[in-house]
Amino acid sequence: METTHPVPGVALRLLENLTSAVLLFDARLRLRYINPAGEMLFALSARHLLGQDAQTILPCPGGQLSHKLEQVMRSAQPVTERELELPLHDGRRVTISCTAQALPDEGSGSEVMVELIQLDRQLRISREEHLLSQQRATQSLVRGLAHEVKNPLGGLRGAAQLLDAELADPGLREYTRIIIAEADRLQVLMDRMLGPNRPQRFEEVNIHQVLERVRLLVEAETGLAVLTDYDPSLPPVRGDVDRLIQALLNIARNGARAAGADGRLVFATRVQRKFTIGERHYRLVVRVEIRDDGPGIPQDLQERIFLPMVSGEQGGTGLGLTIAQTLVNQHGGLIECQSESGDTRFLVYLPLDPSYER
Ligand SMILES: Nc1ncnc2c1ncn2[C@@H]1O[C@H](COP(=O)(O)OP(=O)(O)O)[C@@H](O)[C@H]1O
Ligand SMILES: [Mg+2]
Repeated sequence: METTHPVPGVALRLLENLTSAVLLFDARLRLRYINPAGEMLFALSARHLLGQDAQTILPCPGGQLSHKLEQVMRSAQPVTERELELPLHDGRRVTISCTAQALPDEGSGSEVMVELIQLDRQLRISREEHLLSQQRATQSLVRGLAHEVKNPLGGLRGAAQLLDAELADPGLREYTRIIIAEADRLQVLMDRMLGPNRPQRFEEVNIHQVLERVRLLVEAETGLAVLTDYDPSLPPVRGDVDRLIQALLNIARNGARAAGADGRLVFATRVQRKFTIGERHYRLVVRVEIRDDGPGIPQDLQERIFLPMVSGEQGGTGLGLTIAQTLVNQHGGLIECQSESGDTRFLVYLPLDPSYER
């Protein structure tokens, strides 16, 4: 363990408040210091990272970055690398710019200071805003449409019933029965599109209890064993339990279907710091990840899966994700999807109590 802090007083205060990630490696390229922005980028605590070597922390393809650091150490020339793809321990990938510079240390050797700037953060925020406004537009379209269809449906069904009672010929009644049955089917569909019609009941919800309910349901339906990777320190969210179950169930069912009988379906939870949803900045949000190793979502479908009636499945209603999204939006949250063959992730972000808002 260190006896003195590698960064003294004022410099430390500056570093701790910087929004770019700053890392200090010793002569053997082991991490001596990382600032809070760095912890945030890696989503790991300094305690966890200190002492690890550069290649482990910055596993850019082909050892690209750690070789550069060795070079910097030898030549004492600063190096800047732009638009590097950095895979993180939790499977996320970020695009960074990196500047590395050798600093003489107190003794005879030297240390390397590395500054990382995340480039896709800006991009991501504008993409999220776009996603959210698209989601809102979809929702109001769906609700409007469902109401328009529902209203005449009652009349249609009533008239068919009257006709049914008047018809003497049982052969003709078969037709009125079809009208009634189809009107009922449409009614159910429209109700699903409109979402639950009881008022929301917000309370403190343990998201793991919600996920465990979803897990039991999915396991019972499919026989799949769902794997879990929960962060037990997660604080409760404010929400409506039934709606959260419904939202996550819709996502998990798709995942189970994609994974197939001997595939993998994983539920993971994490806390995420500093996250923007729409125009709101949150200090902390809960991230629920539902991940499967199925074939992935075809590229042309990815942009549209949240739209109603969009389904890649025969007999699918294409409503599952639309409803999930409506319900998550009611909680001030956001659903994101990343998919490639063998790795599809639905990320549900739920803000913690609004008092956490910055
Ligand atoms: N985990 C997943 N893996 C592959 N494709 C998926 C996944 N989740 C959703 N999809 C695609 O998105 C479509 C829309 O899903 P959804 O809205 O639930 O409707 P439905 O399940 O009725 O088709 C699915 O039909 C499927 O093509
Ligand atoms: Mg579905």
